[in-house]
Amino acid sequence: MTTELVGSHIETLKPYVPGKPIEELERELGIDDIIKLASNENPLGPSPKAIEAIEALLSGLHYYPDGAAHDMVRAASSFHNLTPAEVITGNGSDEILTIAVRTFCDYGKDSAVISKHSFAAYGIRCQSHNLDIRWIPTDEGLKYDLGAMAEAIDETTKIAFIANPNNPTGTYVRAKELRRFLREIPDHVVVLVDEAYHQYVEADDYASALSMRDIHERLIVTRTLSKCYGLAGVRVGYGVSTPEMIDRMNRVREPFNCNSIAQVALPAALGDREFVERSVAVNRRGRAVLEAGLEELAEFGVDWIPSQTNFLLVKMPVAGRKIYDELLKRGVIVRPMDGYGLPDWLRISLAEEEKMKRCLRELREVLQLVTTEVAQ
Ligand SMILES: Cc1ncc(COP(=O)(O)O)c(C=O)c1O
Repeated sequence: MTTELVGSHIETLKPYVPGKPIEELERELGIDDIIKLASNENPLGPSPKAIEAIEALLSGLHYYPDGAAHDMVRAASSFHNLTPAEVITGNGSDEILTIAVRTFCDYGKDSAVISKHSFAAYGIRCQSHNLDIRWIPTDEGLKYDLGAMAEAIDETTKIAFIANPNNPTGTYVRAKELRRFLREIPDHVVVLVDEAYHQYVEADDYASALSMRDIHERLIVTRTLSKCYGLAGVRVGYGVSTPEMIDRMNRVREPFNCNSIAQVALPAALGDREFVERSVAVNRRGRAVLEAGLEELAEFGVDWIPSQTNFLLVKMPVAGRKIYDELLKRGVIVRPMDGYGLPDWLRISLAEEEKMKRCLRELREVLQLVTTEVAQ
């Protein structure tokens, strides 16, 4: 008798489905003038300082990258006034999640606590490590229920994930609540606070978990350069934790996990404050335009969740996938949310005013079409 090829945790694993690339839609439909509002990328492109650094590097690409990622680690640590021993860099912040799970969780033995409707990578990483995942429902505003997350933790729980602000809901947890959570939970639990959208936050009662490191020792804070720095294609992010935890994660990390491009891009981008400010300003304007337009679509039953990020989670009157398909035909790529357990919702990334207006125009047409179909 042959044995199973893989365990049931792999057999039942649903792979991550990224936003549809522009080129793919071009190939499929033979159309151009496509706008992609599906992956929360920076509409302004990459940080110009990062581009300059990458261009200067190109003739040195025959060398292996620095396995210790010295310059990146130094740049990220000095950016936060930390020591290099408190920082690990990754092939996107996604990789830091993977390293954390592999480092701190016993395969097939421990449990993990994850909020429903949060970043899909958490569940995928934990399931592929055969952990017992405790999925915690969100509250009625699709916000994290930190009280319920704390209650779900027991002696088997090795890791809990908090995206703050969260993807795909755009919601955030207040500093007070996060501090209380970190105070209440047992010392043995690693808490990973993912701050991918940190730069876009405007709420006064939000604070980065970097300011809470004295409350709970086993804390990892991750940041990415994929969003506000416009470097999603480079794959660059980092994590901050105690020297002990970073040391253990470095033992698990692949030796050349950060490529040479990432290694020059990170120091340059972190120094590009002007670009970050511009990105945040464009985002703010995009959000105002999209929200005002969605208000005008309320007659169709459209609604949305207030966001602290570079996207809006928008409720549709019919299945979000239907609207998504119709928008694709019109050259607008958004993100359907059925895979996140939110079948009536779409996630729309924020961008420049013109792109938001085009998206709203097409959305109105699609809503008119589908609501007439339903009425017939
Ligand atoms: C909450 C959250 N964390 C992490 C990531 C991934 O970031 P990176 O591109 O650095 O892997 C994303 C990407 O969408 C995200 O939404």
